[in-house]
Amino acid sequence: MISPKSIDEVLEIARIEDVVRDYVDLKNRGSNLIGLCPFHKEKTPSFSVSPSKNIFKCFGCGKGGNTAQFVMEVEQLSFPEAIRTLAKKYQITLEESFKQEINPELQQEQESLYIINQFALNFYKDNLRNNPIGQSVALSYFKQRGFLEQIIEKFELGFAFDEPDALLNKARKEGFKLDFLQKLGLVTAQQKDFFRNRVIFPIHNLTGKPIAFAGRHLTSDSKSPKYINSPETELYQKSKTLYGLHLAKKSIRDKNNCFLVEGYTDVMALHQAGIENVVASSGTSLTEDQVHVLKRFTQQVSLLYDGDSAGIKAAMRGIDLLIQGGLDVKIILIPGNEDPDEFIRKIGADAFEKFVENESKDFIVYKLNLHSNEIKNDPIKKSLAAKDIIQTIAKVEDPIKRSIYLQQSAGILGIDEVSLISACNKIIGDELKNKVFRQKREALDNDQKLLNELSSESNIKTQYNSQITISNDEFQEIDICRILILYGHHKVNVNEEMHYAEFIIENIADTLAFFENELLKQFILDVSQQISQGKIPELNYYLNHTDSNISKLALNFSINKYEYSSNWEEKHGIFLSTQQAPELNYKSDIENSILRFKLKKFNKAISEFERRIQLNEIPEEELQLELKSHQHIVNQRNYIAGLLNTVVIN
Ligand code: GTP
Ligand code: MN
Repeated sequence: MISPKSIDEVLEIARIEDVVRDYVDLKNRGSNLIGLCPFHKEKTPSFSVSPSKNIFKCFGCGKGGNTAQFVMEVEQLSFPEAIRTLAKKYQITLEESFKQEINPELQQEQESLYIINQFALNFYKDNLRNNPIGQSVALSYFKQRGFLEQIIEKFELGFAFDEPDALLNKARKEGFKLDFLQKLGLVTAQQKDFFRNRVIFPIHNLTGKPIAFAGRHLTSDSKSPKYINSPETELYQKSKTLYGLHLAKKSIRDKNNCFLVEGYTDVMALHQAGIENVVASSGTSLTEDQVHVLKRFTQQVSLLYDGDSAGIKAAMRGIDLLIQGGLDVKIILIPGNEDPDEFIRKIGADAFEKFVENESKDFIVYKLNLHSNEIKNDPIKKSLAAKDIIQTIAKVEDPIKRSIYLQQSAGILGIDEVSLISACNKIIGDELKNKVFRQKREALDNDQKLLNELSSESNIKTQYNSQITISNDEFQEIDICRILILYGHHKVNVNEEMHYAEFIIENIADTLAFFENELLKQFILDVSQQISQGKIPELNYYLNHTDSNISKLALNFSINKYEYSSNWEEKHGIFLSTQQAPELNYKSDIENSILRFKLKKFNKAISEFERRIQLNEIPEEELQLELKSHQHIVNQRNYIAGLLNTVVIN
């Protein structure tokens, strides 16, 4: 058990932006930082970090919380483990009493798998360094290939004996479950070691824990594959893994560039040459997931490929994925059929570094030249080439770069630049339309998700209906709450004493009865109560509210991607004067939106009254009173409509 005092200390010292930066490339966006969410796949950033509030929130997948919650999620840890991880990062000594913590079963299995992989890694490593056979067969193999001791250590290389069950026997002695060993692919269904007489390359996750292994044969008999790999497990998904990333991540960020190679040994060779910002795709074409992972660390990738064009053609699709992902792609071609490892060995580290500097070419220009060699004077080939290159150029975000590419393309392909530009603009325009549509959809979905979550938690609607539908009115109600939470503590006017919270509560008090969402109504009542006690709640009041529904609302609003939802106008008829800088013009927006909100609610009340009159639903004795209150509402409505310059059609 970690003492509450220690937990508080960790949560106080750990900075959210610091912690998140270990996993996500963050850019400034106003008072927040944004980046690509590490919890779901996305192309445009919806992951937001608020340094001032020390919280994170993703508007794509909805995950959010404080530093500990981030670490729990990203590393799949329990709360105490997350606190320990943070304490280590910030060198905080924890007060801890060593009572066994009970883990849920699943957590325990995952932990066991990590432990067994670590055990296997140690076993293979030990074989290589401390066993005479390992030394003579495997260590000498690496040394003969020119790898230095420190690189062998850094990559934790190992050796699997040419025996059927060396690992299995050791694992049994240690009491590891056969079941888990098989799950990890270390032991086969026939209860034999999977890796035999191979040098072992451990594959690590981002934090450096071993998640899988690759084994290379030592004899080049063509019967067995050169490399064999662990199967996919809960710990290891090949399409999401980049070899060497745990050792490269810091350098990738520092250099703001990542070299991409094909092989394990290429990664090692580059490290030995002093280049640490390198990862391998491990022989296969890049996947979207890998591109997504890379993008969290840098916007620039340099591909290091051997010169034979077959390899590059195969890589094309992966490269297009990189550009589509918004990355700046350079290509460095190594002459002949050599891979980076062989090439470095031949020319030496210093010459290699110069080579990389001189030979680095923009990928689009490279592709353009490739096309120009092919098309000769064939008009059909020419138009196909133009289409292909424009598709790629349209993916480039920087407009200046784009226009340079288009100019170059026109020159090299011999096509009129203006038509290239207009074709490119059309692609961009279509894409933009899709994007705006998606964003609006997203903002709407966010509110929907939030309301669903709140409703299902309190079970208000789910008792009757598991499919919750949210009405237009509820969306508008939630927007009022958003304004209260975000701007309630601001003064309405510099010279006045009134705050927006008071202004809002005062103004909507007479519409509260028409609130559709019970929870939001409760929220408004809570705020009213605070105000009646002379308190003006600030964001922190809401964030730390004991009612988890209220704190959840606050968390959701407090770092919103769209300070106002971009779909306000159509969805609710709330017309914002601008969406650019809400903090500068929120006053008139707030006043207008509250008036529109009231107008809508009053109109509803009026129609409802008229309906009841027509159906004769109002008892005689109440009619007088009802009519009076109706007239009051009509007057109010007309007054507001006048303020809003709205013509009331009735
Ligand atoms: P060395 O020959 O030891 O220098 O390895 P390499 O990395 O140069 O090998 P190569 O260029 O042939 O392949 C590049 C990468 O593709 C390797 O690092 C492996 O990740 C992968 N690879 C190559 N051969 C195989 C194979 O037979 N099976 C599997 N699963 N992967 C392979
Ligand atoms: Mn090689």
